[in-house]
Amino acid sequence: MSLKLGDKINLTIHDVAFGGEGVGRIEALVVFVPFVITGEIVEAEITEVKKNFARAKLLRVLTPAPERAEPACRYYGACGGCQHQHITYPEQLRMKRKQIADLFARVGKISPEVVAPVIGCPQPYGYRNRIMIRSQWNGPAQKLEIGFIRTDNKFVEDITECKIAEPALNRQITEVRAHPPHKGGIKVVLRVQPEGWEVPRDSFFQNNFFLLPKLVETVREMLTAGGARHLIDLYCGVGYFGIEAASTVKSFVGVEYDKLAIAAARKNAAARNITNGEFIAAQVEDILPELLQKFSAENTAVILDPPRKGCWPATLALLRQTRPAQVIYVSCHPATMARDLNILCADGVFELQRVQPLDMFPQTQHVECVAGLRRRN
Ligand SMILES: C[S@@+](CC[C@H](N)C(=O)[O-])C[C@H]1O[C@@H](n2cnc3c(N)ncnc32)[C@H](O)[C@@H]1O
Repeated sequence: MSLKLGDKINLTIHDVAFGGEGVGRIEALVVFVPFVITGEIVEAEITEVKKNFARAKLLRVLTPAPERAEPACRYYGACGGCQHQHITYPEQLRMKRKQIADLFARVGKISPEVVAPVIGCPQPYGYRNRIMIRSQWNGPAQKLEIGFIRTDNKFVEDITECKIAEPALNRQITEVRAHPPHKGGIKVVLRVQPEGWEVPRDSFFQNNFFLLPKLVETVREMLTAGGARHLIDLYCGVGYFGIEAASTVKSFVGVEYDKLAIAAARKNAAARNITNGEFIAAQVEDILPELLQKFSAENTAVILDPPRKGCWPATLALLRQTRPAQVIYVSCHPATMARDLNILCADGVFELQRVQPLDMFPQTQHVECVAGLRRRN
């Protein structure tokens, strides 16, 4: 059967891939459809045909899965922010674990047994403490749209509230809408400041306060089990992990290239009377050789919490060469994490002991993972 644009098909969904698209088959051709659940039979309309796959939009769910849920948000499906609101929360967690295990097996040659069940967020709606609101002039409608990028990635969906954002941010959305720019493209970041932490306006902080205690507990547990006396906290932001783990080590050093974040990290440490750590404003790539020489490898643990693109190859090569006792890799991008873990573990240099996923981003395709590695002797 050769498919063409506009064809209506009935499709059984075999899986939901990372990113939230359901996977079905028409003979040898894979067809991707969003907003579906494994096991469902759906009616869909073909929107794109390529040599090896096609894309379709969901028209109707013919046989719903028992895990189908009512989305809480009226913009769901049009707004590009969420992909999983139509799925019950326990099923979202089960699905994310499977997606991570499948991805790690494919990209990182990692056995699925090391991937633990996903730790859920106690508050699966109303949790985000940082959002970016955009505006776009809609010429044909002669109207300013204020909201989030749509699922089509081209236009802005006009929104008055966001169900995954904290209530304080929803009040800020109302404020922005009450004082709109005259026309065209603004981007405004709205955030709730974390209590007890100094965070400069443009610096990074984890975006879900509700699951943050579990994230830091996971990192601390791994560190304590490893028993290292020195900690190198790379990509440290305002010092969050180093400061929270300060009592588990003799000394620590945090590295971050955002100078304002480093100034805040020093204040965050001082406010807690933490005196066994220092913070350095530098590129990780530049300073790491010197830092790894300063401490003996068998007594050193390294935390890596890089941006979404992952670590530089030279950073991974240096860790492989110097072999610190423990590496704890924190990431919100499982694909680059799997790639980097594969590099660290090649030739048996490091052993990956556990990957702990945490659902810092309920209702969306995103997920945080903490991976614990030990050097092999
Ligand atoms: C995912 S955030 C982690 C922040 C911190 N660990 C936390 O939990 O709050 C990544 C941080 O790495 C910093 N960064 C990105 N590339 C860097 C580099 N090459 N060298 C140093 N810092 C970098 C960013 O400014 C950002 O603060």
